[in-house]
Amino acid sequence: MTIGIAADHGGYELKEKLKKSLEKEYELTDFGAHQFDPDDDYPDFVYPLAQAVSSAKVERGIAICGSGVGACIVANKVKGVRAALINETYSAHQGVEHDDMNVICIGARVIGDTYAQEIIRAFLHAAYTGEARHQRRLKKLNQIEKENF
Ligand code: RB5
Repeated sequence: MTIGIAADHGGYELKEKLKKSLEKEYELTDFGAHQFDPDDDYPDFVYPLAQAVSSAKVERGIAICGSGVGACIVANKVKGVRAALINETYSAHQGVEHDDMNVICIGARVIGDTYAQEIIRAFLHAAYTGEARHQRRLKKLNQIEKENF
């Protein structure tokens, strides 16, 4: 699976830690930040990541900021991105299985590094079930997207 990762200064340290283990298992693209800068802005990194997910350059994205909120807001501004702020493992896999979530947003100041790793693992190991009820809901989401983007 191809994945992308992005973080501002709030998530930079966690991103660097996650990269070490993710690179062993996945084809990983890092959309920055490429160095710690306390004055950087999350849209500068999360937007290119979201575009890469939208254009299928990467299959899934991991967006990290201090709370995960800003990253999630930016990612959902891009057509075809279904991003959610996730702080526990149940939603990490169910969000993929039911909602075809393709970007997970993490708050590095909210959860510990080890648990963040477990959440991301649950996200990456999950697959969309494609069940009729979920397809029906996704179709409605796509219609909303068409009307608003
Ligand atoms: C940066 O200080 C912080 O505001 C940002 O990482 C994020 O938490 C925004 O949602």
